[in-house]
Amino acid sequence: MAISPEAKRYTALFLTASFASLASFAQGAKGIPEPAGVPELMETFGGEKVDSVAKWEKVRRPEILKCFEEQCFGVRPEAVRDGKRISYKIRETNDVLGGKAVREVVDATYSGPCGDYVFTFVSMRPKAKKPVPVFLNFFLEKGDLAALTAAPDYSDPRWPFADIIARGFATVAISKMAIAPDDSATCFKKSIFPCVEPLSARTKSSWAAISSWAWGNSRVMDWIESRPDVFDAKHVAVVGHSRGGKTALWTGATDTRFAMVCSVQSGCGGAKLNHVKLPKSEHISQITKGFTHWFCKNYLKWRGKEFEMPFDQHMLAALVAPRLLVISSASLDSWAGQPGEWWTAKLAGPAWELYGKKGLEADAYPPVDTPQFGGSVGYFVRTGKHSITPYEWARYMDFAEKHGWKGEK
Ligand code: GCU
Repeated sequence: MAISPEAKRYTALFLTASFASLASFAQGAKGIPEPAGVPELMETFGGEKVDSVAKWEKVRRPEILKCFEEQCFGVRPEAVRDGKRISYKIRETNDVLGGKAVREVVDATYSGPCGDYVFTFVSMRPKAKKPVPVFLNFFLEKGDLAALTAAPDYSDPRWPFADIIARGFATVAISKMAIAPDDSATCFKKSIFPCVEPLSARTKSSWAAISSWAWGNSRVMDWIESRPDVFDAKHVAVVGHSRGGKTALWTGATDTRFAMVCSVQSGCGGAKLNHVKLPKSEHISQITKGFTHWFCKNYLKWRGKEFEMPFDQHMLAALVAPRLLVISSASLDSWAGQPGEWWTAKLAGPAWELYGKKGLEADAYPPVDTPQFGGSVGYFVRTGKHSITPYEWARYMDFAEKHGWKGEK
């Protein structure tokens, strides 16, 4: 089989990678499979050491971002690179939770080169005397926000807004369906995509569903920033489960305004490291078959080549540094490859260390329900199966509070 020049270049880079940092703690992580051949985070693709914040921010971070754009999530067209083509209108305002909170339903209109696109999101905030931090829920609601917008008292364990409000934080939810439907037949047709550029302009590195969802999160962030009277835009977390966790990571990587990223059981293409053998977990060959619309076409070429990849998910996680990051797993969710998610949290650490902060402060995989929250990168594995529950939400708020986020009721 012919190997493309690009794959050859990346393979050469992979062969020259240094594994010194990995060896130092591999021993302590016994009990879970250990990675092999992980690309060195603190070395550029050209083989130069990265030992300063300046080198990280000017060279390494941009090249990792570019690599994930071109090889995985796709490159966004110029016409969606900023929030300038957007306008917002509050469609509905209600008092909720017995008058303790205010709910707003917001319609955003994107005026693209090829047409207008309207999407809706919902905000809930405590009636506080000062601006409060916000938890943005990238939500996997299936009904195009129908449930979210239908009734002010809507409740869902995946978005326990009453618990969030009770701790004095605001929360905004946007559904994946608001930006692009989650199926390959309609994703690029009945969505934001055709309003930005004609479908015929799409290439192997064009943006795809996850990138569009992350773009939507950034547009919600624009709106949050436009409301300094009620929201503390310096303290906004993006939370997403599973495909939403992949989206949360890409949101935090592409938009540094998010002060915290919470990736919940995001697995393959998200927080699961590829350079570790986890046979029960999802691999690139499976995810790109079942969910072709999530990634750019270039991603297909890494099918079955996980150990040859010159990039891996610890590099994606490192793009969140020096901000806060929580990666979490569920004990019965081997499809997401829990140990691979732990390794990503661990191996991303050197990026935080450059800033004088601590990454994941742990040398071994934790027992269930025992958060490792010592550093700026947190990890935990909840007992149970694949889902986001009030347990996760409570832990993210614990982590935020530990790092000085203050709610206000
Ligand atoms: C499937 C898919 C995963 C994804 C998950 C989800 O299981 O294989 O990659 O994370 O759906 O979004 O729930």
